[in-house]
Amino acid sequence: MSLFKSRGTKRDGEVDFSRLPRHVAIIMDGNGRWAKRRGLPRTAGHAAGAETFRTIATYCKDIGLEYLTVYAFSTENWKRPAEEVSAIMDLLKKYLLEAIGKMERDRVKMKFLGDLSPLSKELCALCRKTEEISTHYEGCQVNICLNYGGRDEIVQAVRALAAECAAGQRNAASLTEEDVCAHLYSAGIPDPDLVIRPSGELRLSNFLPWQSAYAEFYFTDVLWPDFSKRELNRALADFQSRSRRFGGV
Ligand code: IPE
Ligand code: IPE
Ligand code: MG
Repeated sequence: MSLFKSRGTKRDGEVDFSRLPRHVAIIMDGNGRWAKRRGLPRTAGHAAGAETFRTIATYCKDIGLEYLTVYAFSTENWKRPAEEVSAIMDLLKKYLLEAIGKMERDRVKMKFLGDLSPLSKELCALCRKTEEISTHYEGCQVNICLNYGGRDEIVQAVRALAAECAAGQRNAASLTEEDVCAHLYSAGIPDPDLVIRPSGELRLSNFLPWQSAYAEFYFTDVLWPDFSKRELNRALADFQSRSRRFGGV
């Protein structure tokens, strides 16, 4: 039982922790600009962003959120200078090594969404080990999108389904939305209810295009390293003030 669930009546603009969205997804953007404003190298922004991720993931677990999905590295981010890409990968490695050490205590489940094959063997093995340990835990599931691209995800699902059809295991004419879902990296995970993008950009940048078909969107100018529990609460309260109709009345 979460500490946050037993609160009394809520004031305007406050979060009602008894009716949180099941799944929140965040595009962790703005690290580079955060660093630039401070006259620091972009990598310092990524390091600060990793700390924010730790704070927000812990907070999501504490308030009893079921799923948090974060965009850590896109299929397009390889276009960046090699030094920046390798600094991001090093940070990930460092984070995972620390996380594995603390998993017993934190009991946060982690899963990776994306094509991990181009990553270093070491990082790939760390991701798999983290997922394996996670199977022992229940509670908040944190999905880390790593070398993730929404279009890439759909293409690989289409390839798998086409192969099953060619092998005579399926009939193309009877494929359903559920069949596609079952072949996405996110198979088994409910769609995000709320997608948050900090840093002032108003786009998806190839993040969960299939899954966010009916998501609510929240944009803020705050840069990811400055994103706080308070910012998340603002987004949650805003989400709770909306009316979702899913095409109905
Ligand atoms: C997000 O921050 C982190 C990654 C894409 C890996 P950025 O590095 O994109 O920061 P800005 O957008 O340049 O400020
Ligand atoms: C999206 O941010 C990817 C991640 C946050 C990991 P980008 O910074 O790569 O997106 P664009 O280039 O501004 O669209
Ligand atoms: Mg960016």
